[in-house]
Amino acid sequence: MNDTMTLSQRADALEQKMSDELDYIVIKSRLYSTADADMSPAPNAGAIMAANPRARVLMGDDPRLPEMPAKPTLADFFHYRFGPAAHLLQSARHAVKGGLSEKMVLACLLHDISTIGFIRGDHGYWGAQLVEPYVDEEVTWAIRAHQVLRFYPDESVGYEYPASYVKTFGADYRPDAYIEEDYKRMRDHKWYMSGRMITVHDIYSFDPTVEVELEEFTDIIGRNFRQPKEGLGFDNSPVAHMWRAMIRPAKYL
Ligand SMILES: [Fe+2]
Ligand SMILES: [Fe+2]
Repeated sequence: MNDTMTLSQRADALEQKMSDELDYIVIKSRLYSTADADMSPAPNAGAIMAANPRARVLMGDDPRLPEMPAKPTLADFFHYRFGPAAHLLQSARHAVKGGLSEKMVLACLLHDISTIGFIRGDHGYWGAQLVEPYVDEEVTWAIRAHQVLRFYPDESVGYEYPASYVKTFGADYRPDAYIEEDYKRMRDHKWYMSGRMITVHDIYSFDPTVEVELEEFTDIIGRNFRQPKEGLGFDNSPVAHMWRAMIRPAKYL
């Protein structure tokens, strides 16, 4: 493509190239575009189909992604959709060594699944919602709380504001008001220490040489995560569509 093309000519050329090469059309959700600071309209599926009558928008599986089983389990999401999970696996092993209960080890294992599989911002809230129908209420609460408590020190358990946050957010960063409000609510809650334990076992500078396999936690998952028999995404739960969004992230409608 040459430099004298306008942005829209360039987009048209890209769409043309795409439709020449593929018989499917990828139209991203608005969230992906705005995350790229792209405020332009979505590609025009009708125009692409006019140029390539074979082309169809994606309504089924995405051929670019690993195929998932018809009834996917939590482990399938770790294997076929989530990004690297070393941080979660090391946190969970750390929790085992720290003598935490099985359900809290599970909470540590799952605390950042939204970061590695779904949406980063407010990941504790998203992650808690994703697992809510399948785990003990305390696990959901703790995953949601880690989002907030991570910003606040607790000397009683030796938790300090992470040095890495000073570096990554800047020394003058202050949590948003809704985080502050949640902190006030959470610090007096009966499960405060469960949420706090996730932050204690949240390994901020994990060791890249230590390898932990998900299989180390198969039994803990089996006993503490109610895997739906229909598969995650197909059990008619209030969050099934969120799991389906990870299975088919570019589904047209
Ligand atoms: Fe987190
Ligand atoms: Fe974490």
